[in-house]
Amino acid sequence: MRDQAEALRKRMLQSQGCLAKSIAIVSGKGGVGKSNFSTNFAHSLRLKGKDVIIVDMDIGMGNIHILLGVAPKYSLKDYLTGQQPLENVINTDENGLTFISGGSGLDSVLDWSHDMFDRLLAAFEQLQKEYDFILFDMGAGATQRSIDLIIAVDEVIVISTTEPTSITDAYSMMKFICLQDPDKKFSIVSNRVTKTNDGNDAVARLQFAMKKFLDKETSILGYLPEDASVQKAVIAQQPFLLLYPNALVSKRMTAIANEFVKGDHAEEQQMNGFLKKLKGIFLKGRE
Ligand SMILES: Nc1ncnc2c1ncn2[C@@H]1O[C@H](COP(=O)(O)OP(=O)(O)OP(=O)(O)O)[C@@H](O)[C@H]1O
Ligand SMILES: [Mg+2]
Repeated sequence: MRDQAEALRKRMLQSQGCLAKSIAIVSGKGGVGKSNFSTNFAHSLRLKGKDVIIVDMDIGMGNIHILLGVAPKYSLKDYLTGQQPLENVINTDENGLTFISGGSGLDSVLDWSHDMFDRLLAAFEQLQKEYDFILFDMGAGATQRSIDLIIAVDEVIVISTTEPTSITDAYSMMKFICLQDPDKKFSIVSNRVTKTNDGNDAVARLQFAMKKFLDKETSILGYLPEDASVQKAVIAQQPFLLLYPNALVSKRMTAIANEFVKGDHAEEQQMNGFLKKLKGIFLKGRE
């Protein structure tokens, strides 16, 4: 299985620049806001003109489709078990965001086989050609399968609240990944920050621990405040970014997306942009 993860990693690294960037959204402790981050981050990237797909890796207990207000006919499991072609499990929300549902209901809990992993590889190869970003919303906790996937992706975004338990679990998760893949790129987001708990302090402590104990640089993407708009948007099954664009949490999410696409990512983005422009020019010429 480790060889397969390596194969996935190699394929994902091939032809950098014109293929999608793959990003896993992870946490140590569960319930810290990964899925809400994934859907709203995806929409904020879309508002910047990026093509994004979310793959809900919380198979059997996925909730991306619920957050986006879509009742999908098929989930990732239907593709992995060979029952549906990839195009049938790709859904679009009413705002145009594409995603693959993890499915819900215990009937869809999955025993991974080699065949399934091979299908996953084939799906990524196809998706990489079609999108700028593939976001993997990971389930809570670390299974060997999820670690294999995390090792394969280009970058990991770690979500942590400011609670000490969330911070120490986020550190343990990063350490675990880092020991298996010392070159992994990590970015940290602090969620549910209030006036009384300093989000900057929480991420700074994580960054410091990574440097001190693992000699590993990490970047800070920003923080998201505790905001009632999040729960209201969950109930409305709409992304808070679109439902409450003026809420502080939406403004901070936009700032995080800005931070994400600039800096280290500029080169690849430019390359993608360049290819896109070229494509546009060629397509125009054929009209
Ligand atoms: N910034 C925020 N402000 C207020 N509430 C929030 C915020 N972020 C998350 N929440 C609350 O936390 C709940 C859990 O969030 P979410 O489902 O995104 O977590 P998760 O990390 O994906 O959970 P799991 O580990 O189970 O997959 C949300 O339904 C919402 O009520
Ligand atoms: Mg989740």
